Amino acid sequence: MLFKTTCYLISVNFLIADVLTFQTNSNESCVRLYEKGVEAYLDNDYQECVENFEEAVQKYQLYKKVTNNCRLKCKQEADTSDPLFRVDVENLLFYERAIKNTLCIMHCKTENADVFNGTQMNFETEQLFEDQKPYEYLHICYFQTKEYQKAASAAFTYLVTHPNDKAMQGNLKHYTQVEGVKSDDIVNFEAKSFVYLYAHGADAYNKKDWKNVEHNMEESLGLYLQAEEECRAGCEGPFDHGWYPDFIPSIANHFTMVLKCKMDCSEKLNTLNGEEHDDLLPSHYHYLQYAYFKMGNIKEACQAVASYLLFFPDDETMLDNMKYYRSLPKVDNEDFRPREEAVKYVQRKIYENKIMNFVNHEYRNIGVTQIDEETGSKRNIANEKQLRGPKRFLSDGLASRRECKSLIAIARIFAVLGDGYKGKKSPHTERESFHGITLGRAAFLTYVGLLDTKYLEIYLRITESVRREVKNYFKLNDELHFSYTHLVCRSALSDPSLNRTDLSHQIHADNCNILEDGVCEKTAPAFFWRDYSAILYLNSNFEGGEFIFSNDLLGEDVQSSVEPKCGRMVAFSSGQENLHGVKAVKSGSRCAIGIWFTFNVTHIEKDRALSYDMLDMLKNT
Ligand SMILES: *[C@@H]1O[C@H](CO)[C@@H](O)[C@H](O)[C@H]1NC(C)=O
Ligand SMILES: *[C@@H]1O[C@H](CO)[C@@H](O)[C@H](O)[C@H]1NC(C)=O
Ligand SMILES: *[C@@H]1O[C@H](CO)[C@@H](O)[C@H](O)[C@H]1NC(C)=O
Ligand SMILES: *[C@@H]1O[C@H](CO)[C@@H](O)[C@H](O)[C@H]1NC(C)=O
Repeated sequence: MLFKTTCYLISVNFLIADVLTFQTNSNESCVRLYEKGVEAYLDNDYQECVENFEEAVQKYQLYKKVTNNCRLKCKQEADTSDPLFRVDVENLLFYERAIKNTLCIMHCKTENADVFNGTQMNFETEQLFEDQKPYEYLHICYFQTKEYQKAASAAFTYLVTHPNDKAMQGNLKHYTQVEGVKSDDIVNFEAKSFVYLYAHGADAYNKKDWKNVEHNMEESLGLYLQAEEECRAGCEGPFDHGWYPDFIPSIANHFTMVLKCKMDCSEKLNTLNGEEHDDLLPSHYHYLQYAYFKMGNIKEACQAVASYLLFFPDDETMLDNMKYYRSLPKVDNEDFRPREEAVKYVQRKIYENKIMNFVNHEYRNIGVTQIDEETGSKRNIANEKQLRGPKRFLSDGLASRRECKSLIAIARIFAVLGDGYKGKKSPHTERESFHGITLGRAAFLTYVGLLDTKYLEIYLRITESVRREVKNYFKLNDELHFSYTHLVCRSALSDPSLNRTDLSHQIHADNCNILEDGVCEKTAPAFFWRDYSAILYLNSNFEGGEFIFSNDLLGEDVQSSVEPKCGRMVAFSSGQENLHGVKAVKSGSRCAIGIWFTFNVTHIEKDRALSYDMLDMLKNT
């Protein structure tokens, strides 16, 4: 037999989407419901917790759906409206449509006021839902209310987006062992509707039920494309430039960010069941060509073959199939016409790739990174209220992935060359090594030729952007000077299975010595001239290592905690009001740049001026 298939064998039950049947009778926003859910959880009121989170999730889904559908509907309306003038001059039609589209979106939001009223969605709250945080609470609350099947499903739902979460894997395993819980009935609460049909289509295929393969796969295909359109519409949100670009650069920047996000949509949709399937969309055509063939619809089969080949032109199986179909009577080349939706999809994909490659290539060597798709937009993601204390904030997007990598490379080179801490032990804990490099040391290594100048340039540029961010955020009128800059990696030495309770860095204040009576004295050995502190994180591929703000010196009464990741920065005033520390790094290596600022010119970091002078000198020779 000539036919070979590479179709997936998926357990149907495992994928079935349980369309949430939670009720929304609350008039409160999803953000407020989420907060109430957390409060109920903390009060051990699990029934209340379940109710609030279920409603929060449903309200959020509704909010997303309506937002995205407004965008899709309005784009369509604007694109099909009669132009105000009969010819397009200087791309004016593009702007005319943007204006009409905007008006339509405004109307759409008013028409759906019940959804938008009171929903103050910002990046941070949206992220909670996109990250499936509600399920981190829900699975516990379901368990406590003895809804074990749902507890298992909530844990499973969380794992679909966080497949490597060890603790949740443990929870799921635990729930599946509870009596009465059926593995086959565990569902992904967040599964898209096409997943259900796709799984049934694949199941029908295994049963050689061709009619149902056709039916389910055609429907699934339509819903998949719609889900991708909705995901793409979800990308068309606001963008904080972090500066004030001209008209055209601001359009280009925003467009690039949106495009990057849109291009990630197919990957998001292809994560089924925590597994990546990079050819989910084309695989529909694979199933369909076979089903149509089996049912004697050769024309449709040929179109499905041609559609599949648009995605994978060199696929040998499909080329063989094509050869076979062509050998059949009454089949000619004309029949291998790809389907319209596949053509549109692939053309768009190719064009988008070309644009993104151009951006990646042409902007790479420009000093000013006007468009840096890797940086993500610079934005404040938590304020004093969220971090639960005065004069502190959290921002993302202060360094791109490439920059983080370069900075970590400095630490690596330095580790090879030997560091200032004898035996590489940390001064803070026995169970970690600690290697650091100050700006002065980096300058020295550059001077003697051990470090390429580009690394020093990145070190200087990134820390300067941190300084500007801190000065602007706190609206400081006086000049804020660098006092000290230190790139530090903390690496776990001990076995990660040991349940460490010690801290990687004990709770302290940055500019005073805390005495027994709790008074914080601004004298030596404290660095009493420090006024503001910032920490810029460079990576996240390690376990533990959260930064914490704490009320007490033992770190027992934690106010808030920050998970490091590349480009994220936490900044705060250096006094007693900001006691902080670092939790144990349980495995891997955590790298960050600590930067301390002062208003006192006596304590300016001299190595910085030296570094700039040296770079100038090296450039001129
Ligand atoms: C929600 O409705 C209740 C009564 O059903 C009312 O007391 C409350 O003020 C409403 N809340 C909001 C935010 O509208
Ligand atoms: C939405 O809020 C506006 C202003 O606060 C109010 O006038 C309007 O009646 C509200 N609409 C709905 C449907 O709640
Ligand atoms: C660490 O904690 C887990 C769960 O609390 C326990 O099963 C394990 O035995 C502990 N390991 C050690 C080395 O104490
Ligand atoms: C700046 O620091 C120096 C040395 O520590 C100190 O003598 C001086 O008083 C400080 N100036 C201010 C304005 O605090």
